[in-house]
This record gives sequence, structure tokens and C-alpha cells, in this order.
Amino acid sequence: MASSKTPRTKTKAKSKTKAKAKAKPTMAQLADKHVLYQGSVQVPEADIAIFDDIFSKIRGRRPMTMREDFCGTAYLSCTWVASHPKRRAIGIDLDRPTLDWGEQHNVATLPPAARKRLQLIQGDVLDGLGDRTELTCALNFSYSVFKTRDLLRRYFETVRERLVDDGVFITELYGGTEAIVELEEERKCKGFVYVWEQARYNPITHDALCHIHYRFKDGSRIDKAFTYDWRLWTIPELRELLLEAGFRKVEIWWEGVDEDGDGTGEYRPTEYEENQESWLVYVVAQR
Ligand SMILES: C[S@@+](CC[C@H](N)C(=O)[O-])C[C@H]1O[C@@H](n2cnc3c(N)ncnc32)[C@H](O)[C@@H]1O
Repeated sequence: MASSKTPRTKTKAKSKTKAKAKAKPTMAQLADKHVLYQGSVQVPEADIAIFDDIFSKIRGRRPMTMREDFCGTAYLSCTWVASHPKRRAIGIDLDRPTLDWGEQHNVATLPPAARKRLQLIQGDVLDGLGDRTELTCALNFSYSVFKTRDLLRRYFETVRERLVDDGVFITELYGGTEAIVELEEERKCKGFVYVWEQARYNPITHDALCHIHYRFKDGSRIDKAFTYDWRLWTIPELRELLLEAGFRKVEIWWEGVDEDGDGTGEYRPTEYEENQESWLVYVVAQR
């Protein structure tokens, strides 16, 4: 019995080892979700060009100091300090591991002189940490984690308080008829497919649950790489809360379209637009 058992066990163990040695990691296993996020969601050079355009049209100069609230990996802040030898940035985020990733992968690639002009702070954007800046931004709808008027107003009051006297706050909002339906949208990126899922929307509270998934050509996937539990605010609500928080003027900058109806990438302030399936605006508040 013993002699027949031993070889059988060995053979099994051998084939298991072989199978293990053969199993290559999937593309999903090899991927880094922050690299995927930066490559699919963020275009910091384009954001900075828009900030420069908006700020200089309002204030007649290019801003040199920027606070990036909800900075995540600080990709935008790093691009900011690299965009001009005098530019400074403060990035604020709650999440230590995400900031650490940004330090290792983004900050570390900056020349030492640019690194000195960047300060990353782990903290709550409600606490008003760091020096005053000319520009504060909160991109990719991150303020939508504040789900009550009181909390969002408090955040806007903090933003206003940490701006210099003629400072400007720029944030984004998305909407349109498709914003409140459950859907999955795919977009091809370099080496992977980005999937945006609007999983749930509650018309009573405007709570919106969204996920980002990533798919790869070997069939592997990262489901729910990022999940957002937001309140989908409206333009008038944001505007009212910013004014209540003490901002002097709040403009809505809408993207122009060419003759084929495609976005031009150029934004201008406006007071009337026809609704669309989906739109993304810059909400621009002057202190
Ligand atoms: C959607 S990501 C934004 C990443 C990047 N800034 C962008 O524009 O794509 C949201 C980030 O906000 C951070 N966050 C959420 N609540 C926060 C708070 N109260 N204070 C500071 N950071 C917060 C999260 O840790 C997360 O990194």
C-alpha cells in the first residue's frame, strides 16, 4: 500500500508544480490600478491649459500657486510644478497609501528643484491645511462625497478661506440626461479598456453609485478598481452653495462644439445651454 501511495502522491505534486510553473500571471494581475487610473481618467496638461486660460481671462495673469484638493497620486500637482519654474503646489488627500504611491511614482520623477515646490499633505480638505494659494481645484467630482448642503457649504467655505484675496476656485460637474441612468461605457486606452459604470441612482436623494473597471485583451479584468458613492449635485445647487460660502461670483464654463457637434476643448462662461445626453462643466468661483 505504502509503495503505491507514495509515487501517486509524488506524481500529483509534480504535475501541480508544473501547472504552477506554467500559469503566467494575467494582465490584470500585472497591472497597477493607479497607473491605469492616471492613463484613463487624467490628462493634467489639458487641465492646466484650461486653468491658465480661465484664470488669465478672469485675473489677467497666469496663476503660480495651486492647491489640489483630493489630489490622490498628485499627478496634477506634479505636472503643475513642472509646468513653470516658479509654480508651487499643495496636494491634499486623506489616503496615505495613495499619497505614498504618488511620492514614489510621480514626485520621484520630478527634478529636485520642482520637488521642492511641491507639498503633499495627508489630511481632510475640510481642515484648510497649508498656505493660501491663487488657485484651488477639486477635479473628477471628488467633492461629491459631501452629501449634505451643510457639509458641502463647509467645504466651500474652507476653500474660500485658503485662497488669496483674488483667488479662484475651479471644479467640475457632470450631468445631462445620461447621468442619471444605469449604464456601462467602455473606452479603449493604451493596453486596456476603461469601463465607467453608473450602477445605481436614487432620484429621491440623488445618491449615485459608480465604479471604474478595467479589462484586458487576455480576458482578465479588474472589477471595481475604484468605487464612488456620491451625491449627484446640480449646477444651481453648487452655485447657490458657493455664493452662500462667500464667493463673490460663480460662473459656469461650458465646452464649445464644432460644426460636427464634437467638443472643441475650449470653454467659455455661459448662462443658457440646451441640455445634452452628457456634459461636463467647469464651475468657476471668484473669491
Ligand atoms: C476621485 S479621487 C481623485 C483623484 C485625482 N485628484 C483626480 O482628479 O482624478 C478622490 C480622492 O479623494 C480623496 N478624499 C476623499 N475624501 C477626502 C477628504 N475629505 N479629504 C481629502 N481627501 C479626500 C480620496 O482618498 C481619493 O484619493
